[in-house]
Amino acid sequence: MMVCEYKPGLEGIPAAQSSISYVDGQKGILEYRGIRIEELAEKSTFLETAYLLIWGELPSKEELEAFEHEVRYHRRIKYRIRDMMKCFPESGHPMDALQASAAALGLFYSLRDLHNPAYIRDSVVRLIATIPTMVAAFQLMRKGNDPVRPRDDLDYSANFLYMLNEQEPDPLAARIFDICLILHVEHTMNASTFSARVTASTLTDPYAVVASAVGTLGGPLHGGANEEVIQMLENIGSVENVRPYIQDCLERKAKIMGFGHRVYKVKDPRATILQKLAEQLFEKFGHDKFYDIAQEMERVVEEKLASKGIYPNVDFYSGLVYRKMGIPTDLFTPIFAIARVAGWLAHWKEQLAENRIFRPTQIYNGRHEIPYTPIEQR
Ligand code: CMC
Repeated sequence: MMVCEYKPGLEGIPAAQSSISYVDGQKGILEYRGIRIEELAEKSTFLETAYLLIWGELPSKEELEAFEHEVRYHRRIKYRIRDMMKCFPESGHPMDALQASAAALGLFYSLRDLHNPAYIRDSVVRLIATIPTMVAAFQLMRKGNDPVRPRDDLDYSANFLYMLNEQEPDPLAARIFDICLILHVEHTMNASTFSARVTASTLTDPYAVVASAVGTLGGPLHGGANEEVIQMLENIGSVENVRPYIQDCLERKAKIMGFGHRVYKVKDPRATILQKLAEQLFEKFGHDKFYDIAQEMERVVEEKLASKGIYPNVDFYSGLVYRKMGIPTDLFTPIFAIARVAGWLAHWKEQLAENRIFRPTQIYNGRHEIPYTPIEQR
């Protein structure tokens, strides 16, 4: 009998072969289809990067225009989906609303034709186009307002911010938001991507694939950490409180939110870019005292924990960027999902191309040959 080594959380076990993204955690390198994240953040757009990830190459000018056009004209959600969302409790978390709404798309588009490239493209366009509309619609409806219709004259990120805030965004804020989506779109075999691939491997529809990944992303050990960073900065309250706060965490062996990563042992390259974006926003729209607290935290954590490879991760500065844009804290993770849906779809397509259903094994550590005890004797 083959003896398998058990690795809790499948740490370090390859779950797939993939050419979508690459991380070198020692050098702090992240590439999408071989292109460095810094270059994409500077030169690309979210939709172009999504195309790159899903179809494997940067699009030509005509291909990009066609893709942008299709996404633009599929942004509206069905009235019946909107009406269903109206029935959701306002107190519910927007990630749960998003998971239910993404799954509901499968009710309307139930024809499944996984080997047809036109079906793949249709599904990709529909999901990338409608997820932002659903996030914005829930935000307005839980405040008692009617959702705002998408604006066909606005680009992807500008349109989302418009639907969310009911006013056209500043161009710098819209560009910075678009870069944030690029930074969050894909990150190798993380928990939600694994979840997407497992679901995809059963040959179910892409709406179920995305709904299962949204559910996985929502947890505080994964996408939910950015909300906790803001909570932590608010609790610390001032630069003077930073050192005692960190000292206390270390004594209690508590994790400092927004720091550390399973793969990166240097500063996450996305955190470096996000920090610069936050500075641009503060320069234009006014300083945020939480940024001073964050910088002091980075200094003190480096002093104390650099030897363990603990540096800021992607979640440390993203919350400060979204906060400055006036986005409510509990929308940070749904915004992560708006970006990551394109990464999940790239993995869906890759999984289908060489599919084998996921069916790992287990190491049974229970009992055997136990007689059934009648209920009156228990
Ligand atoms: N604060 C203080 N110490 C830390 C931290 C931290 N944030 N992260 C790791 N360590 C220490 C840990 O105490 C341990 O020390 P020792 O060896 O003395 O026991 C050592 O570093 C290794 O820690 P680990 O928990 O074995 O590392 P891991 O690879 O399992 O954890 C992590 C990675 C991201 C779950 C963890 O660093 C963490 O919980 N960070 C805070 C939460 C957070 O920011 N999450 C966002 C992750 S990035 C986005 C995403 O994946 O969605």
